[in-house]
Amino acid sequence: MLRRLLRPLRRAAAARAPLTVGWVKRDAGSWLAANLAGPRFRPPAPPQAALVERIAAETEALGQKPLWEGYATAYARDAAMPWAGKAMARSSEEVRSQPRMGRVFAWLAATRKPGVIVEVGTAFGISGMYWVDGLAQAGGGALLTFDPNETWHAIAARNIARIGPHATAVPHTVEDALTPTLAGRSIDLCFIDAIHTGAFVRAQLALIMPHLSPGALVLLDDITFSDDMNACWRTLAADDRFRASLTLDDRVGLLELPA
Ligand SMILES: C[S@@+](CC[C@H](N)C(=O)[O-])C[C@H]1O[C@@H](n2cnc3c(N)ncnc32)[C@H](O)[C@@H]1O
Repeated sequence: MLRRLLRPLRRAAAARAPLTVGWVKRDAGSWLAANLAGPRFRPPAPPQAALVERIAAETEALGQKPLWEGYATAYARDAAMPWAGKAMARSSEEVRSQPRMGRVFAWLAATRKPGVIVEVGTAFGISGMYWVDGLAQAGGGALLTFDPNETWHAIAARNIARIGPHATAVPHTVEDALTPTLAGRSIDLCFIDAIHTGAFVRAQLALIMPHLSPGALVLLDDITFSDDMNACWRTLAADDRFRASLTLDDRVGLLELPA
C-alpha cells in the first residue's frame, strides 16, 4: 500500500535525475559531441510531461493486454531470449520507456526539429507521446509509429492524439508498412524499440538505412537486454557507416550518420 502511494514520488524523482552518457565513437564535429558531451545529461521536462504521465497511469490501469502473436514465433525461434516461457500478455508499465528517457525523446524532437521521426514499436504510445510533445515544441514534423498489435495500437493512437496532432500510428509491422507510409519522405530520426534480438534489429536497420537523411540519428532501445542485443549494439556502435555513437544509461544506444 505504502509502496503504491510512494510510486509517483519515486518516479518524479527518477525522471529528474541525470542520465549517464557513455561514449563509444566520439567525433568532435558530430551533433552528438556538441550536444551530449557528458559525462551526465539532464533532459528538460517537456511542457506536457505531467499529462503524458497521467495518461500513462490511466493506461496502466487497463491491465495486461495480449502481446502481438508474432512474439510466439520469435520466442520459439530463440529459446535463449530472457522472456521465453513467460505469459504472453503485458501491461503498459512492463514495456514502456521510462519518463527520464521520454524526456530525452522530447528534447531530441524539440532541438533537432526533425521532419520525420520513425518509431518501430508503438506499444501503448508512451514513448510516442513524448516524441509528439517534442514535435509540438518544434512547431511541426511528423511521427510515424508502427505496431502490428491492433489492441495496443488502438489505445496508443488515442493516447498520442491527446498530446498533439503530429503522429500517424500505423497498425502494421515496419517491414510491411514503412515504404508506403513514408511515400518518398526521408527519415531524420529513428527509434527501434520492437523485438530485442540482434537478428530483428539488424534486419530493421537494413530496411531503414536507405531512407535515412544525411546526419540522421538512430536510437536503439534495450541494448543490454541480452548478450545477443549487446553484441549487436557493440558492432553497430563501431560500424564505419556511423560517425558517432554513445549510450544513455546503458539502456539506449544512439548512432549518428555523417552529414
Ligand atoms: C518494447 S515495446 C515498445 C515500447 C514503446 N516504444 C514505449 O516506449 O512506450 C515493443 C513493441 O514492438 C512491437 N513490434 C514487434 N515487432 C514489430 C515490428 N516488426 N514492427 C513494428 N512493431 C513491432 C510490439 O508489438 C510491441 O508493442
